[in-house]
Amino acid sequence: MSNTTESWGSRVGLILAMAGNAVGLGNFLRFPVQAVQNGGGTFIIPYLVSFLLMGIPLLWVEWAMGRFGGRFGDHSTPFILDNMTHKRFWKYFGVFGIFTNMGVMAYYTYIESWTLTYTLKSLKGDFLGMDLDALDSFFNGYVDLGSGINFPVWALLAFLITLSINIYILSRGLSAGIEKVAKIAMPLLIGFGAFLAIMSWTTGSTGRCEDCSTFVGLNFLWEPDFTTLANPKIWLAAAGQIFFTLSVGMGTIHCYSSYLKQKDDIALNAMSAGWMNGFVEIVLGSAVVIPIAVGYLGLDWVVDNAGFMMAFKTMPFLFDQWGSVLAVIAGVAWFGLLFFAGITSSLAMGTPWMGFVQDEFGWSKNRSAMLLGIAILAMGLPTIFFFEKGVFDEYDYWTGTVSLVIFALAEVILFAWVFGMDKGWKEITDGADMNVPRIYRPIIKYVTPLFIGIIFLTSLFKPLNGELSDWSTAFNSLFSGQGWPWANDSIINQIFHINTGVQWVADGHFTNMFYVDMSRFFLLACFFALVAMVKVASNRRKQNASS
Ligand code: ALA
Repeated sequence: MSNTTESWGSRVGLILAMAGNAVGLGNFLRFPVQAVQNGGGTFIIPYLVSFLLMGIPLLWVEWAMGRFGGRFGDHSTPFILDNMTHKRFWKYFGVFGIFTNMGVMAYYTYIESWTLTYTLKSLKGDFLGMDLDALDSFFNGYVDLGSGINFPVWALLAFLITLSINIYILSRGLSAGIEKVAKIAMPLLIGFGAFLAIMSWTTGSTGRCEDCSTFVGLNFLWEPDFTTLANPKIWLAAAGQIFFTLSVGMGTIHCYSSYLKQKDDIALNAMSAGWMNGFVEIVLGSAVVIPIAVGYLGLDWVVDNAGFMMAFKTMPFLFDQWGSVLAVIAGVAWFGLLFFAGITSSLAMGTPWMGFVQDEFGWSKNRSAMLLGIAILAMGLPTIFFFEKGVFDEYDYWTGTVSLVIFALAEVILFAWVFGMDKGWKEITDGADMNVPRIYRPIIKYVTPLFIGIIFLTSLFKPLNGELSDWSTAFNSLFSGQGWPWANDSIINQIFHINTGVQWVADGHFTNMFYVDMSRFFLLACFFALVAMVKVASNRRKQNASS
């Protein structure tokens, strides 16, 4: 518990900071790729249903939990959760709300640093005239791909600079740091996004190939296909995107909201930030990468090559097609947009740690930020050096995907069933500047936990390929004694390496699995280090209470 003097400077600042937390690289890099990999317009219905039944309820729950915790002077999830129940173990669940952020921040800041480098290089005109092969080589050289263990000098330097910028802003505090940045970054980001969207919408057909038209790309993303609604794979992808893009199940929203006053509105604020994120993702996020790429390279190329690296390896080439002046402007707008989207999110990821150590150990903002910087550096370096070994993806899998689902499931059960819906509903509606639809009361109590529970179980046991028919095949296989055909990315297979067996050394060299498993143990060690800090904090609280 703290005597913090931190608070938000204004309502607009709070909403922009919350929207900045949500709007991130996920909106512009992850969303379009997920949409393409999951059948284009097919994706949009599961996405919207997940938003309504899981995203919105979780936003309200997390905002309410945060403001509730703030009343007791708590600004991070371990003790926010602790205050909601008498059961002691919940505070250890709350560790997820710090750990997840730090794990994601470690690799996220690395991508953010690429966007900084690419903004400067676009401004210098370095990408003018580069074809796809040249861009590919540049990128590979930049992150030192192809060398086994990567030692990318410039990328490392950019990472250090980006991390330092984050740490400096965090050390300035909430209203003088984060809020100020959000007030500048968010309007610029939307302006850049609108410019690129207009360029995309007005490009239309380029005549480069038969279906080379930005409209074909837009159509592909927007034309719903109801026949695939029964495909669990697409639902998993859509729900995963909702978690990541809204930053729910992370702990950042609780932290930001804990600096509100008891009578401040949360219902409308949560909707404003949530819908702003939705607008940026669905309208702007789907207007740039995919349509422009389809416009010059055709739909087949995009479906075959979609990946988040397209942002770096393909976009500068596409901008070049607009002539050198527009190419420079579009390059700066695109990578600048990504940088602003990234930094407003990574700053949010730093705040649960800041809140925790200031509350519990009384550290100053500078000291808290410095130590965060050291921790993120230590956690981030393996993703840089062992990028090619799969460590970067491993962080994303555990901290950016699985952890969010586990924490969201735990918190919604705590909120609706342990804390109780009567108190919970009162927390959501207290001071509300809008009528919260009452239908959301049973949704939060029954539908959202069930929804997340199904997502979690499906991710645990996902069978090979993960389509609906694969589930019945898997059950047939199980009951006929041939075992369960695990998908490689099912959580159980990821943990036990059932499909491949454990192989750490091959031909006298460590395998990728070795590096991946080591990074997993390292993440686990970080988690338990935070558990230990929570334990120490809890003991200190007990001592203070008895003295
Ligand atoms: N919500 C953030 C994003 O979309 C993490 O990138």
